[in-house]
Amino acid sequence: MTLPNTSRRQWLRRAALTGAGLAVLPALRLGARPASPALLSGFAEYLPQLEWERRLAGRPELQARMLANENPYGPSPKAIEAIAASASTGNRYQHEAAAELLTMIAEYEGVPEDHIMVSPGSSDVLEKMAIVHFKDGGNVVAADPAYMSLIKVTMGMGGDWNKVKLTDDWAHDLPAMKAAINEETKLVYVCNPNNPTGTLTDNIELRQFCRDVAGTVPVFVDEAYLEYLPDYKSKTMVPLIKEGKNVIVARTFSKVHGMAGLRVGYAVALPETLEKVYQISRGNMGLCKTSVEGAMASMRDTEFQKMSVKLNDDFREQTYAGLEAMGLSYIPSVTSFILFPIAMPGEAFLEGMFDKGVGVRSFDVHGKDYCRVSIGKPEEVDLFLSALKQVLV
Ligand SMILES: Cc1ncc(COP(=O)(O)O)c(C=O)c1O
Repeated sequence: MTLPNTSRRQWLRRAALTGAGLAVLPALRLGARPASPALLSGFAEYLPQLEWERRLAGRPELQARMLANENPYGPSPKAIEAIAASASTGNRYQHEAAAELLTMIAEYEGVPEDHIMVSPGSSDVLEKMAIVHFKDGGNVVAADPAYMSLIKVTMGMGGDWNKVKLTDDWAHDLPAMKAAINEETKLVYVCNPNNPTGTLTDNIELRQFCRDVAGTVPVFVDEAYLEYLPDYKSKTMVPLIKEGKNVIVARTFSKVHGMAGLRVGYAVALPETLEKVYQISRGNMGLCKTSVEGAMASMRDTEFQKMSVKLNDDFREQTYAGLEAMGLSYIPSVTSFILFPIAMPGEAFLEGMFDKGVGVRSFDVHGKDYCRVSIGKPEEVDLFLSALKQVLV
């Protein structure tokens, strides 16, 4: 495909900004800041996120890998083909291919190209947005529990997490979040559907919340799992950005597209918000040519996406049925994972499950232990249920 002139111009402009950004970056690098207690504790807290990676080290390979909400069916065969075919062009930078992907995403989202930033996974978007919004401190208003990536970087930058408990049915408590915004609030973070609970906040209420709030403070909506919903296009917050609202939506190729290890994601946001990121960072330089080619092929492979969603639905039901048969309760999920309470300490539970070759995660939610299990293939679901019977005594 030939690169449209607008994309090429946009790309060159960004490449130029990259050079400028590098000159600014040292001043913002964490090492250049005095080490405040908040900064140190932020990063100290980040380490336990690697807890399961450490747990894997030195053990036999897991028989059931249900700990990172990966899609067990991906990548799409068409993506694999595109990746293989592009490997030999890896001596060249990814600029043109990345600009092509950006054009495809902009068309898919129905927004102008300058409303899209493509990134190596949506973690990159979460982290860079935290850096640009919290370089001078402030607080993020976000749920507790929530997906921690943006919150951890916020705290690492010296900012605070203004926690708001979820409602009794595990939705975001939007009135309480609105009330929690103060003059120090630099960003509101809404993970919808939420991780680790797997629950959805009503899209009409969330849209109204964004309309009320985004004039004062930007709202970051993390839609990593939204594509698992059959009618997700009616639930995304992207239309608000088209209306000019200061909302940032992050999406990823790691879930429905099954490309977690290939690292592609993107942000949809107002150009002036993205510009803040381009001013301090290397823009899309973290992208990998093969992954970009794979992402484009995967976008075209709508059959694979439908299959991913359907199989996830089927085996989520199978997992529910197994939990019910054991008399266990769970939080009904709209995502590729389920959170359920466990009547034993999370650490001992994890050890027991890992010993049986089953990788899951444990979470302490307001003083209670929970297991989060990703939806696996049917044989993994069976292994998980059988290990659960033995470990939960
Ligand atoms: C809610 C949520 N957002 C973002 C991410 C980051 O995904 P990635 O960096 O692979 O796009 C994850 C990963 O599990 C997630 O659960």
